[in-house]
Amino acid sequence: MSLPFQGRVAIVTGATRGIGRATALQLASLGASITLVFYSRSVEAERLAAEINSSSSASIPRAITIRADVSDPIAVRSVFDLTEKTFKSPPHIVVHSAAIFDRKYQSMSSIPQAIFDSIMSVNAQGAFHVFQEAANRVVPGGGGRIIALSYLPRHGVYACSKAVVEAMVESLANVLKIKRITINCVAAGPAATDMFFAGKTEEDAKVAAENNPMERLGVLEDIASFIYFLCSDAGEMVSGRVIRANGGMI
Ligand SMILES: NC(=O)c1ccc[n+]([C@@H]2O[C@H](COP(=O)([O-])OP(=O)(O)OC[C@H]3O[C@@H](n4cnc5c(N)ncnc54)[C@H](OP(=O)(O)O)[C@@H]3O)[C@@H](O)[C@H]2O)c1
Repeated sequence: MSLPFQGRVAIVTGATRGIGRATALQLASLGASITLVFYSRSVEAERLAAEINSSSSASIPRAITIRADVSDPIAVRSVFDLTEKTFKSPPHIVVHSAAIFDRKYQSMSSIPQAIFDSIMSVNAQGAFHVFQEAANRVVPGGGGRIIALSYLPRHGVYACSKAVVEAMVESLANVLKIKRITINCVAAGPAATDMFFAGKTEEDAKVAAENNPMERLGVLEDIASFIYFLCSDAGEMVSGRVIRANGGMI
């Protein structure tokens, strides 16, 4: 079987669960060496690394884990440093999936300042730190890929933080084109992940599925496969785009 990412190095933030985990597994199954970035779930991260490494007998592991708070620029830099040191190569692919959201879905008119600050700090500033490091360190000259995640519904501080992410992606594409590095944002619709189900009832989930033109929630494979395409050589002509992979929700 051909492995399109053999010899390529990837960093995936938010790799402990949901979209980040599914993407890390997919990239690893197609040959990439991976740094799995976690924040609080070390056990899940170690388990995933062990799963990926179990299929390899190479002296250098195929997957490593590192704890980093993406809102801390020094921690983000150390992710890139350790990746380069371990795999003896700068990264080719960076998938930034880490994020938090407001489980109470408070409106902008009533949300406490502290919640606003923490979501903007992880989602908007965190993306800034990851993108800035990636923009300077992803391998130039072809095959370099940066992927972010965002979301369509425009409510609350979560949406506000993701609007910042989308704007940064569009702006960075212009800078990165001279290095032949692509950067895109996959704006998924409601997807059946822990983040989506947190704070929702079964009825909420049912309504969300019914409201989708495809009459279902997204599943991890929908999004991971799409990220795979953008990371692949076939995805080279797509950059600076916010792509709504959400079943046709407008
Ligand atoms: N689920 C959806 O319906 C949906 C739809 C559209 C877009 N998205 C976007 O897709 C991405 C993934 O969503 P998901 O549902 O898969 O998320 P999730 O299951 O809630 O996972 C969130 C991840 O972010 C990490 N994280 C949280 N705070 C962090 C911090 N300060 N520093 C570093 N890592 C941190 C967590 O690490 P630990 O577990 O180690 O704490 C976890 O791996 C997010 O950007 C989300 O906004 C999700």
